[in-house]
Amino acid sequence: MKAVGIIGTGMYVPERILTNHDLEKMVDTNDEWIVTRTGIRERHIAAENQATSDLAHEAAVRALESAKLKPEDVELIIVATITPDMFFPSTACILQDRLGARRAAAFDLSAACSGFIYSLATAVSMLKSGMYRNALVVGAECLSRITDYTDRNTCILFGDGAGAVVLGEVPEGRGFLSFELGADGSGGPLLNIAGGGSRLPASADTVESKAHYIRMAGNEVFKFAVRIMGSAAEEALRKAGIDKKDVDLLVPHQANIRIIQAALGRLELPEEKCMINLDRYGNASAASIPIALAEAVEQGRVREGDCLVLVGFGGGLTWGASVLIW
Ligand code: ACO
Repeated sequence: MKAVGIIGTGMYVPERILTNHDLEKMVDTNDEWIVTRTGIRERHIAAENQATSDLAHEAAVRALESAKLKPEDVELIIVATITPDMFFPSTACILQDRLGARRAAAFDLSAACSGFIYSLATAVSMLKSGMYRNALVVGAECLSRITDYTDRNTCILFGDGAGAVVLGEVPEGRGFLSFELGADGSGGPLLNIAGGGSRLPASADTVESKAHYIRMAGNEVFKFAVRIMGSAAEEALRKAGIDKKDVDLLVPHQANIRIIQAALGRLELPEEKCMINLDRYGNASAASIPIALAEAVEQGRVREGDCLVLVGFGGGLTWGASVLIW
């Protein structure tokens, strides 16, 4: 099977910034609590006229430019999101039209914050099988649209943004070496949006009870995340036959600095070997890993031949990790 890797990256965050001090005026919280408990200082929020596909489009254009690929040559588009523009058509189809990627098959993938790694695994498998020669994989979210800004337990965490990668054939010995995906549906109620689906269709009652907003048992999710980030990354490394001391850069889901530090401890990696940008973007769910990766590339932190580990967890519950050689 041919080697498949990342041949282009791009990211986009909306202009508006919501700081911890802004949040102090909205709910009973303070900058010091948010920084010490999460590491987050500010996050970007989509403008009123921006939806998830708009953020995805900006990131996708940049990724295609960096891959030197024209939209009409793209063969597959996957958008990982839990905040699609609408139920259907998929955000991937909206993006396909906007890009003019007429030849591309397009679909969304839903695995919450693990969505980007699930999407990578799907696209890489399709490329390795020979079904397609390239793919555009995007993680894009407007979490501000499903966040209750009267709930201090959740509203301090989330931000909006998009990150994208282009996948294609790379020289032998490079590219994706392994994936580790997992799910535990019994933990679904710990992190969900109960309303608006077929179980609890949108109604005046669901709006009244705020059932269209994210609800989260933060502490339970925290314990799960601390356990799973380290073990998923270790399993992906084992499958790839790579020792943890040979990892050059960890690119984790940007949910909470304490969760990332726990993963670094388990992998025995120093903080210099980890891409951290949650202080500026908060948790952007499926967009957080591709945004962090695109920034790492932009900052020259990724060199040819480097070993990267991507790892994330999220609602579902779900988790995913991948090892690749740049
Ligand atoms: N400001 C001040 N106090 C607060 C705030 C706030 N913003 N939020 C909660 N508190 C209070 C709580 O009410 C609680 O007070 P009490 O003891 O009087 O009840 C106290 O602070 C401690 O609360 P904990 O929940 O124990 O705080 P914890 O240290 O666990 O931190 C946090 C909370 C940051 C939410 C943490 O649990 C966390 O990061 N969990 C993981 C969240 C996550 O990553 N979710 C992924 C979602 S992504 C997706 O799939 C969409």
